[in-house]
Amino acid sequence: MGSPVPVGFQINRDLNKFLAHYSRDPSKTNVIDVDCISWSTEAERQERQKKYCEVATDYYNLVSFAYEKGWGQHFHYAPLTPGLSLTESIKAYEREYGHIARLRKGMRVLDLGCGVGGPARTIAREIGCTIVGITNSAWHVARGTALTKEAGLDHLITLKLPFPDESFDAVYSVEALCYSTDTTACYKEINRVMKPGTSFTFHDFAMTENSPAPWYYGPAGNIWWAMMIPGWADFWKVFKMTPFFRFFLICFFRLLVLVGQMPSEMLTLLQVMWYCRTVTIGAKEGLFTPMYLFVCQKPAASVGAGKTGRRSATEGESRRTEGTAVVQDH
Ligand SMILES: C[S@@+](CC[C@H](N)C(=O)[O-])C[C@H]1O[C@@H](n2cnc3c(N)ncnc32)[C@H](O)[C@@H]1O
Repeated sequence: MGSPVPVGFQINRDLNKFLAHYSRDPSKTNVIDVDCISWSTEAERQERQKKYCEVATDYYNLVSFAYEKGWGQHFHYAPLTPGLSLTESIKAYEREYGHIARLRKGMRVLDLGCGVGGPARTIAREIGCTIVGITNSAWHVARGTALTKEAGLDHLITLKLPFPDESFDAVYSVEALCYSTDTTACYKEINRVMKPGTSFTFHDFAMTENSPAPWYYGPAGNIWWAMMIPGWADFWKVFKMTPFFRFFLICFFRLLVLVGQMPSEMLTLLQVMWYCRTVTIGAKEGLFTPMYLFVCQKPAASVGAGKTGRRSATEGESRRTEGTAVVQDH
């Protein structure tokens, strides 16, 4: 398999580009401005919101190779299946997700925010449908296309845009719609490209009252949970998220920086990615789940773009995959 490091990737340039979105001092974009992240003003938040696409693109161009090395080709969470490792649980969930999304062999399906195509490859294998993945990251397109070719699935999966009206038999998305700052426009566009009577399924971040199962044991670095999986299949992956390992890694990176074997920006990148771990704080407080699942259906007689974003959601059902709640109508 080829290297997951993007061609043309320059850690100092790409890190500065991302950190510039979170810096109050334009001359200091090579360090994390903690004040600007944690206590940003409303004006700063609005400024970032205007550039949301650029912020997300710069983030994913920077971290995707590390995601792929540390977490795998599937950039999302999944409900844990007892007895299965994290990776196996993710794939089992993706296979089930293809069925929940009502996908069938021969359908032409759109994957919104496809990452490097991990879910699309599992689903295409399971169902035999054709999938078109879109993402704002040029690196994801290049890497995802290469991985898909390597998996022998390039006849089923394409990563590109844009599309004519009513050109898809189904649309799905995994942890990507949360990046949109204008969900109405987003749903309208989804509705436009769907054929009448077809379904739109998405699984995304949501605020919750409680989250009983510890989906977050991976990012929380909870090695006790990892040790309950037969064969300790996740142990190393989860161990890498412990404060102990981070401390060790920082010392090791510092040493490499000191002897000139690594750019100092790698230390900052490590810190940037450590912030992702804060999802576990929300989870432990019972406030947050990444796996809120919606299945919507476009009415058989098209009602035209502009109205259907709402109609689809009203006619759909949603369910939290973490926990037992099944709720109708949002
Ligand atoms: C958490 S990742 C999920 C990736 C993929 N669905 C998976 O599960 O492996 C979020 C994805 O949304 C994409 N994304 C974020 N903002 C986007 C936008 N405005 N347009 C298209 N894709 C976007 C990111 O580039 C990334 O691929």
